[in-house]
Amino acid sequence: MRTQIRPARQPRAARITGIGGYRPSRVIPNSEIVERIDSSDEWIRTRSGIESRRWATDDETVISMSLGAAGKAIAHAGVHPDQIGCVIVSTVTHLYQTPSAAAEIAYKLGTDRAAAFDISAACAGFCYGLSLASDMVQTGTAEHVLVIGVERLSDLTDPTDRSTAFLFADGAGAVVVGPADDAEGAGIGPVVWGSDGESLGHIHQRENWYDALHSPDGPRMPHLVMQGNPVFRWASYEMPKVAQQALEAAGITVDDLDLFVPHQANMRITDAMARQLKLPDHVAIARDIAQQGNSSAASIPLAIERMLESGEARSGDLALVIGFGAGLVYAAQVIRIP
Ligand code: UT7
Repeated sequence: MRTQIRPARQPRAARITGIGGYRPSRVIPNSEIVERIDSSDEWIRTRSGIESRRWATDDETVISMSLGAAGKAIAHAGVHPDQIGCVIVSTVTHLYQTPSAAAEIAYKLGTDRAAAFDISAACAGFCYGLSLASDMVQTGTAEHVLVIGVERLSDLTDPTDRSTAFLFADGAGAVVVGPADDAEGAGIGPVVWGSDGESLGHIHQRENWYDALHSPDGPRMPHLVMQGNPVFRWASYEMPKVAQQALEAAGITVDDLDLFVPHQANMRITDAMARQLKLPDHVAIARDIAQQGNSSAASIPLAIERMLESGEARSGDLALVIGFGAGLVYAAQVIRIP
């Protein structure tokens, strides 16, 4: 007889138990940007919905912003850092390829040697991390998982690039995922996710780090470049279908929803998705991009935190979240607000 390996424990339900965000201190209005890119406040507002964005100071690093957001999420969850079994950080702007941001954060938070790793899923990264955390808690791989979406996109943005300089921003958002009391308390629906590598060239770094360091004109940052229009069309027409599938996977309809929190990429994309999903009037729609800009992996938890602070969202609400971006990659799920 073959020697058997003990299987993972019986599946149990997972939920988000705490949430927190960190917004960097520099508020940059459109007026500070327009001259460098021959634009106008009106163009930026009408094309993207952005009025101002948050950029980090030199002291506000990927690590420090993450610690700020994570501290709030852990306190909200009512757990001690040594109960966190795994730290997942989604970021494309931690400037060290190794060691991971997650290992440093796990240590600085005072976890008890929690497992720690970074993931690269751009603006879908928060939803990717949430899915991993949910699976870990459901199978008993970890009891409490900290998921952080954090970006300092201002480092990777060319301030003279008309298609990105007004769009990208900095910040961090975090959640703790832990076990639900019973199956009825499940707080994270099945993920619907995927990628489309054929569109790799739509958002990418203009060169790799080696070529950037050895550029004939001297070392330079390998800035992000984006073909905004095809990404805009893909997000506006394809992502509502993914969002609809996430609703179906969770066994609910738009009528059951309280909140719609898409990645804060562009207010017009948010509006297009809401129209196609035929969201009823009672569903509150996240519009954090107006004051925050597009902070990629951080944008969904930051938007939820703002809705909680303003009273638009309440604990127990059902929210549809969807992230999408460079890759192209995407992920959507239904969650219950902690
Ligand atoms: O977060 C990850 C995923 N990223 C996204 O989802 C971003 C998706 N893309 C977008 O949000 C939009 O494509 C942008 C906001 C980036 C651009 O808006 P658009 O409506 O797609 O503009 P466009 O690139 O089609 O350009 C329209 C016009 C052009 O002028 P003409 O040819 O119509 O005369 C551009 O030259 O606007 C002009 N333009 C600008 N004008 C003032 C392009 N950029 C600017 C600018 N300021 N910054």
